[in-house]
Amino acid sequence: MKNFFLAVILVFSTLFSSACVDKGANTTTTGGDTGGDIKVGVYGDLTGGTASFGQSTKNGVQLAVDEINAAGGVNGRKITLVIEDDQGQPQQATTVVQKLINQDKVVALLGEVASTNSLAAAPVAQAAKIPMITPSSTNPQVTERGDYISRVCFIDPFQGSVMAKFATNTLKAKTAAVLGDNSSDYSKGLTQFFEQEFVKLGGRVITKQTYAQKDQDFKAQLTAIRQQNPDVIYIPGYYGEVGIIARQARELGMNMPLLGGDGWDSPDLWKLGGASLKNSYISNHYSADNPAPEIQNFVKAYNAKFNVAPDSLAALAYDAAKVLADAIKRAGGTDSAKLKDAINATKDFKGVTGIITLDANRNAVKSAVVLETDPSASKFNFKETIYPEGMSAPADATSNTNTMMNSNTMSNAGMTNSNSMNSNMMNSNATNLNTNSTMNANR
Ligand code: PHE
Repeated sequence: MKNFFLAVILVFSTLFSSACVDKGANTTTTGGDTGGDIKVGVYGDLTGGTASFGQSTKNGVQLAVDEINAAGGVNGRKITLVIEDDQGQPQQATTVVQKLINQDKVVALLGEVASTNSLAAAPVAQAAKIPMITPSSTNPQVTERGDYISRVCFIDPFQGSVMAKFATNTLKAKTAAVLGDNSSDYSKGLTQFFEQEFVKLGGRVITKQTYAQKDQDFKAQLTAIRQQNPDVIYIPGYYGEVGIIARQARELGMNMPLLGGDGWDSPDLWKLGGASLKNSYISNHYSADNPAPEIQNFVKAYNAKFNVAPDSLAALAYDAAKVLADAIKRAGGTDSAKLKDAINATKDFKGVTGIITLDANRNAVKSAVVLETDPSASKFNFKETIYPEGMSAPADATSNTNTMMNSNTMSNAGMTNSNSMNSNMMNSNATNLNTNSTMNANR
């Protein structure tokens, strides 16, 4: 009995003193942090037309936070998540972020996925001075909303140029059509950035067609494209429409390669597009097939927990949560100005999606991968890695890494498992091509 009381007193005094220490260390905290658990807000589309984006993001963050908490938390404090569904609607994104900040008093935000939704919510976070890290919104304007807004992914001027280079160099395309989503800032940006680079490389965009999210019938646009007979069609959209577009294009007898970006990445793409997705390529943030041990450990842990392979959203969300925890540690707490500075100073952080260093505009400067669709296995296969200018393949790149210098020779278009890869380095605004450095990591 005496021991029991002693234990109770011990537990209480420990709790009490740690609460005091936290309070003392966080006197200047905005966001209502009163010590105890660290509250982090996560917002995304857990329901709606692109629900796998939100679900994967939630899972990725959850895995990271479970690992962090199991290892003792951050500065001895556990992280608690408050997760909100915005149904993929920009107006809803604004509303839930207001709620997370004002009601739940979160000290930081992770989200959104779709650039349009991040663009809508970012001004709320900026005005309240609550740091927001978007794991996966790639439109350049997102972080231009202010210094409290950052991201752990690359931006679309780079992503668009990656596909233009792949189309030109690997697929030998001379002409392209673009079929873009006019209701998405992401898609409008990629349309522009792809065209800029493709034209620069000597190609021609012979027709640009558009659609809106939730459209079901793309035959009019596809028929117009068919008349022009382009070498490739670039479709910078989200998986929900892309799957249907692929199906309708093949039905119309159009068998040229279909090209896209990260927005295709969803386990649901294969259900919608099926075998029509053959002969297609996307730019993306990482490949789950990368044999690097840190990636395979993540893939294994994620699979064990959620019974599905982690897509790039899951991987980016995992990285965003770990970057945030690392920044809280470096900031010595959750004071919002200090935390913002610590996030923005992130440098050489080893994530599963690559090494994360934020530039002066709070964008991560990272490599991209080109993946090839494999509808028979419902997955994407690794094709090549493309590095931004000034970044080269890591020295410890794995066994089947090919490095080619000063090479403008290309792999055989359309061949799977080709070991001959090309990537010209470019910087993140895609203006300055470093054409004599070519690196490849076949992962
Ligand atoms: N990059 C997309 C956007 O900005 C979101 C996305 C990222 C979708 C990664 C799928 C995978 O809208």
